[in-house]
Amino acid sequence: MPSDEGAEQGGIVGTCYADEARVERKRIVAHRQVGERTFRLRLDAPVIAAGSFPGQFAMLRIPDRVDPLLARPLAIYDTFHSADDTEPRGAARTRRYADFLYLVHGKFTTALTALPAGAELEIWGPLGNGFRRLPPVDHLVLVAGGIGQTALLAVGRAALAGGASRVTLCWGARQAGYLADADDFRRAGIDVHLATLDGSAGVRGTVIDLLDRVFAPGSGVRPGHVASCGPEPMMAAVAHWSAGRGVGCTVSLETPMACGIGICFTCVAPIRDAAGGWDYRRTCVEGPVFDATAVVWPGEEGAG
Ligand SMILES: Cc1cc2nc3c(=O)[nH]c(=O)nc-3n(C[C@H](O)[C@H](O)[C@H](O)COP(=O)(O)OP(=O)(O)OC[C@H]3O[C@@H](n4cnc5c(N)ncnc54)[C@H](O)[C@@H]3O)c2cc1C
Ligand code: FES
Repeated sequence: MPSDEGAEQGGIVGTCYADEARVERKRIVAHRQVGERTFRLRLDAPVIAAGSFPGQFAMLRIPDRVDPLLARPLAIYDTFHSADDTEPRGAARTRRYADFLYLVHGKFTTALTALPAGAELEIWGPLGNGFRRLPPVDHLVLVAGGIGQTALLAVGRAALAGGASRVTLCWGARQAGYLADADDFRRAGIDVHLATLDGSAGVRGTVIDLLDRVFAPGSGVRPGHVASCGPEPMMAAVAHWSAGRGVGCTVSLETPMACGIGICFTCVAPIRDAAGGWDYRRTCVEGPVFDATAVVWPGEEGAG
């Protein structure tokens, strides 16, 4: 995919645009169920595996079908050298395989589950700005809701490699079965704390209940910065929680997308500007990662 040069103009920091996008067919080399309605897919996709940075995503589409017609965005979860690696190793730039973790939700993800190893997918990316503008902090806290952890594994690894002494994941889901492959985070050296609504794993309650517990006054721990991904109401709550404690927060929005490269405007979200106003921004090219204070959350003044 193209360099960032030029893409930086106009405040846009994505790496792939309409005039540069290349749709490729890539082979599935592994595909298995890893949790409740949760599947893990490995694609032989060197451009994506070697060229992505933490928090970026790709658009995936099932070839030779018109239903579902549109591609869907999935976060680039992890990257590997060989088709059967279980641990990333060596230089990221020489990796060839990209893993995606998805929750079966609607048409696309349901159809995807039926594709065996050897089948092909159409894919374009890596896309979006990713989490590359996180401030360097000693303790980075990742906050995930639902399947939002997929955007955060690489972020945690990069923070530890870049000098953070601690990365903590607080991850909330409906029940234990949805907390698939949490060991990936532990193996990366990230402290993992879990919450489930039914109490089947970790703290019973929401991820906000979990944050309150892990960072309770007197616990002696305080986040340096929060990076979050998940359903919008949960991220709004995380943004509020962080602001209330004077902690910076960066979020990755999960808005529905159709093209992923800035053409269709399906993905717009209301984002504040430096002058105090707001306007719609395309989350595929100007996001999906934004400072939480820039997002006009539902119910806040500004969004129409
Ligand atoms: C940058 C980015 C990265 C993502 N990464 C992942 C990932 O790694 N794993 C994963 O499982 N999902 C991820 N998602 C979400 C995923 O793209 C959607 O859930 C996708 O729509 C699923 O397609 P589907 O055809 O199965 O469901 P659809 O048929 O598209 O959706 C079913 C229903 O859900 C609603 N819906 C669809 N998308 C959203 C949304 N984002 N927010 C709220 N409602 C929605 C639709 O309106 C519809 O009613 C990501 C989204 C974005 C923007
Ligand atoms: S998804 Fe088409 S402009 Fe963003």
